[in-house]
Amino acid sequence: VLHFSCGFLLLFLHSLRAVTTLEKMIVSKLGDNTKLSCIYPQGGKLHLENLRVYWQVDDPQEKCSVVYALISGQDNESEQCIHFKNRTQLLWDRLENGDFSLLLLNVSQSDARKYKCIVLQNTEYTKRVHHEEVVLSLAASYSQPILSGPIRNTNSSEEEVTFSCKSSNGYPKPNVYWINKTDNQHLNSSELKITLQTDGTYSVFSTLKIKATSNMQIECSIKNEILQENLSANYMEKEMSNSSNQESQKDLGQNRRGAQAISIVSVVILIALLVALACWLKKRRSSQLKSYKAPV
Ligand SMILES: *[C@@H]1O[C@H](CO)[C@@H](O)[C@H](O)[C@H]1NC(C)=O
Ligand SMILES: *[C@@H]1O[C@H](CO)[C@@H](O)[C@H](O)[C@H]1NC(C)=O
Ligand SMILES: *[C@@H]1O[C@H](CO)[C@@H](O)[C@H](O)[C@H]1NC(C)=O
Ligand SMILES: *[C@@H]1O[C@H](CO)[C@@H](O)[C@H](O)[C@H]1NC(C)=O
Ligand SMILES: *[C@@H]1O[C@H](CO)[C@@H](O)[C@H](O)[C@H]1NC(C)=O
Ligand SMILES: *[C@@H]1O[C@H](CO)[C@@H](O)[C@H](O)[C@H]1NC(C)=O
Ligand SMILES: *[C@@H]1O[C@H](CO)[C@@H](O)[C@H](O)[C@H]1NC(C)=O
Ligand SMILES: *[C@@H]1O[C@H](CO)[C@@H](O)[C@H](O)[C@H]1NC(C)=O
Repeated sequence: VLHFSCGFLLLFLHSLRAVTTLEKMIVSKLGDNTKLSCIYPQGGKLHLENLRVYWQVDDPQEKCSVVYALISGQDNESEQCIHFKNRTQLLWDRLENGDFSLLLLNVSQSDARKYKCIVLQNTEYTKRVHHEEVVLSLAASYSQPILSGPIRNTNSSEEEVTFSCKSSNGYPKPNVYWINKTDNQHLNSSELKITLQTDGTYSVFSTLKIKATSNMQIECSIKNEILQENLSANYMEKEMSNSSNQESQKDLGQNRRGAQAISIVSVVILIALLVALACWLKKRRSSQLKSYKAPV
């Protein structure tokens, strides 16, 4: 029974390890260098002469699949796909510890896919000793959205206004939300344009048409799902800021008068202190003179 349970535990641990090493997700920003991790855990130093390490893209339709090949401790460029030429690096000082992580330089959209790291050992026969998969996703932060409006639509019969919101340099396509901040309800946009820019990122432009009400509070929110980033810009009715603006100016004036009063008082105190110090010094000198005279 003990034997059986030990075996079962080992099997369980093994499958657990298989699950945890099955597939990793990596998010990289466009143009960055990213590390695809692959670690073949070994106690001592590895003999690289007996090893072949392949980094491959996992795509059956792909004509070329080799991202990187390390054969007997040397890179073999003859099999490497042109797409990855001059864009890959191993961490050479860590190879003997079984760290075959690959540095992929200047990442672009077409690199967003699944990568396999395969370690083969040639002794009497070739044996696969390690296998890892990494999924690379690409992302870029959107710029702070700019909300403009409201602009009155003169053509419409009702008092209708248009807000517009724009943001750029993000990846992948965002979710755009318009929110009525008074009741936190989502509003439907009347236009949503997402444009692919020449650098591979997206720019977004959206408009919202609503009936004008007093005290409008509107938010435009740009969400990048992969990065879990939610950027927002707000519009608050102007009347409030107008009055609060005046108030803050009045506060500033009062503060300035207060500061003047404080500085006058402190100058007076300083002068008084100096006078007191001078008097005390004078008194002390005269008393010292007296005590000098005494023994003579
Ligand atoms: C690279 O691999 C090819 C095919 O596997 C082989 O013919 C060639 O000799 C290798 N080159 C080096 C430098 O190992
Ligand atoms: C890689 O770099 C070498 C030398 O810098 C250059 O000759 C070659 O054209 C480059 N290859 C690619 C595909 O960029
Ligand atoms: C990075 O890749 C892009 C194309 O994806 C290219 O236009 C750019 O010149 C590259 N930058 C560097 C520093 O190699
Ligand atoms: C204004 O309304 C007229 C008639 O309904 C229409 O032809 C025109 O295109 C509208 N202009 C704008 C800017 O919506
Ligand atoms: C926003 O919510 C308030 C409160 O529910 C409502 O009175 C107002 O009409 C809403 N505005 C829009 C544009 O839906
Ligand atoms: C927004 O659009 C959806 C479907 O397009 C619709 O079901 C919903 O009622 C609309 N909401 C408003 C506030 O117009
Ligand atoms: C992002 O904003 C939208 C709209 O307000 C909201 O539905 C969503 O829950 C927000 N997500 C996060 C992560 O804050
Ligand atoms: C500020 O608000 C008052 C009413 O509260 C209005 O008469 C005045 O025109 C406003 N000033 C500006 C600059 O909007």
